Amino acid sequence: MTINIPTYPDLAGKVAVVTGGSGGIGAATCRLLAANGARVAVNGRDEARVRAVVDEIRSRSGQAIGVAADVTDFAAIERMRERVEHELSPVEVLVAFAGGGGPPPGPTAQITEAEWHSAIDGNLTSTFLTLKSFLPAMIERGSGSIITMASSAGRVLTRAPTAYAAAKAGVVMLSRKVADEVGAHGVRVNCLAPDSILTERIQNLMTEDQKQQRAASFPLGRMGTPEDVALATLFLSSESSSWLTGLTLDMAGGRIML
Ligand SMILES: NC(=O)c1ccc[n+]([C@@H]2O[C@H](COP(=O)([O-])OP(=O)(O)OC[C@H]3O[C@@H](n4cnc5c(N)ncnc54)[C@H](OP(=O)(O)O)[C@@H]3O)[C@@H](O)[C@H]2O)c1
Repeated sequence: MTINIPTYPDLAGKVAVVTGGSGGIGAATCRLLAANGARVAVNGRDEARVRAVVDEIRSRSGQAIGVAADVTDFAAIERMRERVEHELSPVEVLVAFAGGGGPPPGPTAQITEAEWHSAIDGNLTSTFLTLKSFLPAMIERGSGSIITMASSAGRVLTRAPTAYAAAKAGVVMLSRKVADEVGAHGVRVNCLAPDSILTERIQNLMTEDQKQQRAASFPLGRMGTPEDVALATLFLSSESSSWLTGLTLDMAGGRIML
C-alpha cells in the first residue's frame, strides 16, 4: 500500500527501539519512524530478518541498527538496551510490539501448560520485562513515550486462543498501571489493540475468499494494514500526542467501539 507518510518534526534524531521490528507491523513501524528521521533500533530474534529491515531503512538514507534479542529473556533485553544506549543514545521512544498468536484456538481445558506459558511469556511477560528494562532511564530523564501491543482479542470476545486473549488483556492493564505510575515523571504509555492486520504472515494464511469475507465484516469495509498501525504509532510516539497516556486505541475498522 502506498501511503503519504506524515511528518512529526520532533521525532527527528530521537532514538526509538521497536521490539518485534523485524516483521509485520513492527517492520512497518520501523520504516515510518526512520522516514521521520528517528534513529531506530530494530529488534527480533532472527538476525537475518532484523538485518533485512535495517538494510532496507539504510537504503533509503534512514538510520537504523539491528539488535537481535529474545524479549522473553530479561538479560537479553538489558544487553539490547545497553547496546542501543552505547551506539545511539538513551531511548526516547519504546515500541514494545513483539508477540504473536501461538497455537490454534481450542477448548481451554485442552491447553497445555507449555502452551499457556508460551502465550503469556511471549506477549505479557515480554512486555513487562521490556518496560522494566527501559523505564528507569526514561524516568530519570523525565521523558519518554512507550507504545505497547495488545489486540482486539484482549478487548472483546473473539475466536482467538484463550491464552493469547488473556495475555493481551493483561497488556492493556499493565499499560494503564504503568501510565498512571510514570505520568508524573514525564513518561507516557499508550497501548494499541488491532484486529486483523494484513501482514505478510496473515496474507499467506488466508485465502482470497477469507480475506474478502473478513474485510466485509468491518464497517470500514477492509482489513487493516501494518501501515495503519504504524501511522498510529508515529502519532503516539510524537509530541503531537503529548496529552495522551493510558489510552488503549482499538484499531478495528469501526468494529470495536468501547
Ligand atoms: N497481525 C494482526 O492481525 C495482529 C492483531 C492484533 C495484535 N497483533 C500483535 O501485533 C504484534 C505484531 O504482530 P504481527 O502480526 O506483525 O506479527 P509477525 O508478522 O509475526 O511479527 C512478529 C514480530 O515479533 C518478533 N518476535 C516475536 N516474538 C519475539 C520475541 N520473543 N523476542 C523478540 N522478537 C519477537 C518476530 O521476529 P522473530 O520471529 O524473528 O523473533 C517478528 O519481528 C504481536 O504482538 C501481535 O500479537 C497482531
